[in-house]
Amino acid sequence: NSATLAHAYEDHFLIGAALNEDQIYQRNAEIDAIIRTQFNSIVAENCMKFERIHPNQGGFFWDEADAFIAYGEKHDMAVIGHTLAWHSQTPEWLFLNDEGDNVGREELLKRMEHHITTIMHRYKGKVKGWDVVNEAVLDDGTMRQSKFYQIIGEDWVEQMFRIAQKADPDAELYYNDYSMAIPAKREAVHALVKGMQEKGIRVDGVGMQGHISLEGPTIDEYEASLVRLAELGLVMITELDVTVLPWPGTELTAEVSMSVEFQNEFNPYKDKLPADVSNQLTQRYKDMFALFLKHEDKIDRVTMWGVTDGATWRNDWPMEGRTDYPLLFDRANKAKPAVAEIISLT
Ligand code: XIL
Repeated sequence: NSATLAHAYEDHFLIGAALNEDQIYQRNAEIDAIIRTQFNSIVAENCMKFERIHPNQGGFFWDEADAFIAYGEKHDMAVIGHTLAWHSQTPEWLFLNDEGDNVGREELLKRMEHHITTIMHRYKGKVKGWDVVNEAVLDDGTMRQSKFYQIIGEDWVEQMFRIAQKADPDAELYYNDYSMAIPAKREAVHALVKGMQEKGIRVDGVGMQGHISLEGPTIDEYEASLVRLAELGLVMITELDVTVLPWPGTELTAEVSMSVEFQNEFNPYKDKLPADVSNQLTQRYKDMFALFLKHEDKIDRVTMWGVTDGATWRNDWPMEGRTDYPLLFDRANKAKPAVAEIISLT
């Protein structure tokens, strides 16, 4: 069977994956083959984040990001940049002056203009779109009190989009965030983006990260947010993965705990995913992709946050050293049953 995710979804939406360093440098031939055949879009899992690409005030580190871009070009993939402004994985120096005090608003804006413009110019014409701002809103709908917010002020998100729009008028510009199925958060993001658009600032779409679990959010909750956010432009599912593990400290549900041979609080499925949990994972992916297909007119791209379970950030988050199974390809680099199921929906 030559069907792949990318082929099956060709006429529906882009199918993407986040690439880590090993994948960018093609260190594993099996995994490389999965990426080239199953996906037609890539995003940088880490190498374009501030601390990686611009570690010191004095200079940029381009090697890995250049290799990432070259990989996408070589395989004719839609390349996505992640991310230009984020409170996390951003070095301290950005916010500090020589005396070690916080810089003022104008200085931080100047530094961000330099950062964003330098990166966007280098990759002009090679990147389909950028996650310009990542995670500026909290789950309760208030703005995150990040350094950006504290130093620049309420309009910091808008300032980032202004800079990005000027730097590359042809690249798509996105706002990206997690837990978007929470109504308070969804409405706050909607208002934030709409507010910018009404001022004539270009925001082409919203990325819903999609770090979900077997239980939540529900398909209905997810659908409500997808439909609502699509009023603003493109919608992308930007970081899909499905943890099968409980949140640290939460009790396992009765069904789950009965099926587990070995369990502890953080690593219940130590060596092997029990069949019933594996089936739940397949079903969860089927339900999600059925929802995406239902709204394919609104969805530009669905991107997996990783390729195989062997290298998923979920193994180390929210606790280190977990054995999680959130992706579509397993630790032996084989497609899980969910892949065929997802393909058969088209
Ligand atoms: C994660 C990466 O996957 C990890 O390798 C890294 O250590 C931390 O960041 N939301 C985002 C992504 O927007 O950038 C995060 O990626 C996962 C959560």
